[in-house]
Amino acid sequence: MNQINQRRPQANWYRDAFDGMARRAKGVLLSVTCSIVMIAGVSAQERSEKQFSKYVDSKGNISLPEEFETTFVHLGSIAVAPKTGADVTELHATYTRAEDVKAFQKDGHFADGAILVKEVRSAKGEDLPTGHTRFAADVKIWFVMVKDGTGRFKDNDLWGDGWGWALFNANDRTKQVATDYRTDCRTCHVPAKGNDWIYTQCYPSLKKIDAKSKADVSTSETSPTKDLVARFPQWKEAIHLKGDLAKGRKYFESKTINTSLTCASCHSFDVRDTMSLDGDGLVRSGFPIFAAAHRTDIKHSGTGLVALGANVCVVHFMKGEPPGMTPQELADMNQFLQSGGNAKHATAKNVDYAHLKWTIPETLSGGDAKKGGALVMQTCISCHSVDGKNARVLDAAGKIGGGSFAAADLKKLALRIRNPEYKNNDEMPGYSDIRLSNQALLDILAWLTTK
Ligand code: HEC
Ligand code: HEC
Ligand code: HEC
Repeated sequence: MNQINQRRPQANWYRDAFDGMARRAKGVLLSVTCSIVMIAGVSAQERSEKQFSKYVDSKGNISLPEEFETTFVHLGSIAVAPKTGADVTELHATYTRAEDVKAFQKDGHFADGAILVKEVRSAKGEDLPTGHTRFAADVKIWFVMVKDGTGRFKDNDLWGDGWGWALFNANDRTKQVATDYRTDCRTCHVPAKGNDWIYTQCYPSLKKIDAKSKADVSTSETSPTKDLVARFPQWKEAIHLKGDLAKGRKYFESKTINTSLTCASCHSFDVRDTMSLDGDGLVRSGFPIFAAAHRTDIKHSGTGLVALGANVCVVHFMKGEPPGMTPQELADMNQFLQSGGNAKHATAKNVDYAHLKWTIPETLSGGDAKKGGALVMQTCISCHSVDGKNARVLDAAGKIGGGSFAAADLKKLALRIRNPEYKNNDEMPGYSDIRLSNQALLDILAWLTTK
């Protein structure tokens, strides 16, 4: 064994990452057992998609729930008039399952497999003893959305952005007629993007959080989905606020909490980002987050709640007072993070938490100082001025120069660069070995200690 295991950082989210892995491992065992019991002629793929939703077949075809009028709950109605002051001509009624409302009330988002049916009817009316009324007449059309938390059916044009999307005309409730959700649906749902594409403001019952489900959330040990939400109770308020993209961006670029670090000193947010190189040519300690809103495993929690992932950094790295951002700041940050790339962008990929390591090699000498100098210009210069060149993102960390440290400091330096919890390293982020390989670390050490 040629690696020394460093003390693992103490912050909760790292611990949770490992708990999460343990849970996942149990899940695997469970499904292995199931497949032994259920040896039938169906492939694993088909079976798992069948289990996912009874309204979605193995290819991702969505059906209009046969029985929704009698078994679903009415989430809310929208009366639509062609212009201000005119009579209402359409009534839109949205239905879902009771379990989907309950899950939303707990943690503010639709669970995997949640289904929404919007029925559009024309409106007619009479003057009744109550007043000038309008009520529902013939069905015109049904819209259906099915929540997809894991990015299924990648080649199907009716699946994407975390949902399956479908449309049925009144004359045939068995025939799905939409062809591409991007043009048929998404353009119109953009104003609701910050609320996972759903016009949640139209449905007051989504806001009701009863005492029982509150308790469920705070004592939840088992569901990783609820962990981030349980840790940050302000999220429940934040999801009902309108976020301000510009304020979120400002926070990302310039706000510091109790350390000198901004989000931008550790993450890039740039259309040119890849998972290995930041769009501006630097390599920061955190991965780029341009399309992180499309990741499904933020902070290894099994959810896509990207703003809560950011809030973990506020408390952990920026030393903000728990629970971190205010509800309004969280809503603004969410709006900003949702404005990044689409699900196909290079940074929409989940961070490989299982393989992040903060270990240093046993032998610290032998690096290439010249290569090390170039690496420092790509990594450390985001916060430090290097050999007289100004820091590029945040000038808050002082100067470092080639050959300015003694060889006796090698170990201290290595620990400082790798490990965020090392005690003399309060303000400086640690580079995991995915962001900075051991060879790169040795090269940097050579540069720092070679006159
Ligand atoms: C003309 C713009 C427009 C188009 C096109 C559109 N939607 Fe919507 N949709 C809305 C609006 C606005 C609401 C909420 C208010 C309302 O119904 O008037 C809504 C509501 C919904 C709802 C109820 C949940 C919610 O967000 O309120 C579903 C389900 C839905 N749409 C699905 C679809 C699907 C699937 C498609 C594509 C086949 C689609 N929509 C196309 C504008 C649109
Ligand atoms: C000191 C460095 C540092 C600072 C400051 C920082 N982060 Fe992070 N952040 C990290 C590291 C390290 C991770 C773990 C995963 C990785 O390497 O990207 C992370 C993870 C994340 C994630 C989750 C990524 C995922 O897919 O799990 C998001 C989102 C995020 N940060 C956003 C922010 C935002 C927004 C801010 C400012 C409020 C911020 N971070 C401040 C270092 C930092
Ligand atoms: C996100 C900002 C940031 C990045 C990137 C960064 N540092 Fe730092 N670094 C700091 C801060 C802030 C301090 C001062 C506070 C402290 O000592 O913890 C510091 C301190 C140091 C010190 C101690 C200086 C001294 O004189 O004692 C060294 C050495 C150092 N950094 C090396 C590096 C190297 C090498 C890299 C690149 C691999 C790097 N840093 C990347 C923020 C950063």
